[in-house]
Amino acid sequence: MDAREMKIKAAAAALEHVEDGMRLGIGTGSTAEEFVRLLAEKVAGGLKVEGVPTSERTARLCVELGVSLKSLDELPELDLTIDGADEVDGNLFLIKGGGGALLREKIVAGASKRMIVIADESKVVDTLGAFPLPIEINPFGSVATRVAIEKRASRLGLSGELKLRRNGEDIFTTDGGHHIFDASFGRIPDAEALAGALNSIPGVVEHGLFIHMASLAIIAGPAGARTLK
Ligand code: 5RP
Repeated sequence: MDAREMKIKAAAAALEHVEDGMRLGIGTGSTAEEFVRLLAEKVAGGLKVEGVPTSERTARLCVELGVSLKSLDELPELDLTIDGADEVDGNLFLIKGGGGALLREKIVAGASKRMIVIADESKVVDTLGAFPLPIEINPFGSVATRVAIEKRASRLGLSGELKLRRNGEDIFTTDGGHHIFDASFGRIPDAEALAGALNSIPGVVEHGLFIHMASLAIIAGPAGARTLK
């Protein structure tokens, strides 16, 4: 089974949790896009759901495939969000934001009763941090924000390069008009402490640590899909 087939398997298992009439948060990334494709087939077959996309990219795919969308202001309370992740640990703590949509992803997941993560086995880790942590920042005062992040991280025994994300020659800009530092801290033994420390820095808009947000992860491997709770 190749990587795409595993993503489709995880997405198909998540689709079983979707019921008629649900208000759905719809994630971003290649795995979430497999979910959108399967969801669109169900919608074409008569399933009625209303989706809130977590990025412009996801919104475009949903529109193209005929999945009905609403804004989060129109649907401020959602039944379920289904989204991918860059890393998942045994507590269902996540690193997200590889696709740059972490802020909207976190807002949408936070407005949902449940969040189901869909991923392949390569995303499961004992300790978060091998994947560089995306930290979304306001462009204003980015040097001061970088220094503040380095200081707070160092108090937790963490250090590593903070790389400003680029899109070719240009600085990568999120849907919200912000920039991203990808922080290579390595192992993050206390993700909750780091999340709290980052939350207290004014120039940090959001970070990719999703703590106590996911209720279930569907992990697909060559032998099939398993769940983490
Ligand atoms: C986007 C995300 C994605 O969910 C994450 O990067 C996983 O993407 P993929 O399914 O393509 O591996 O957080 O901001």
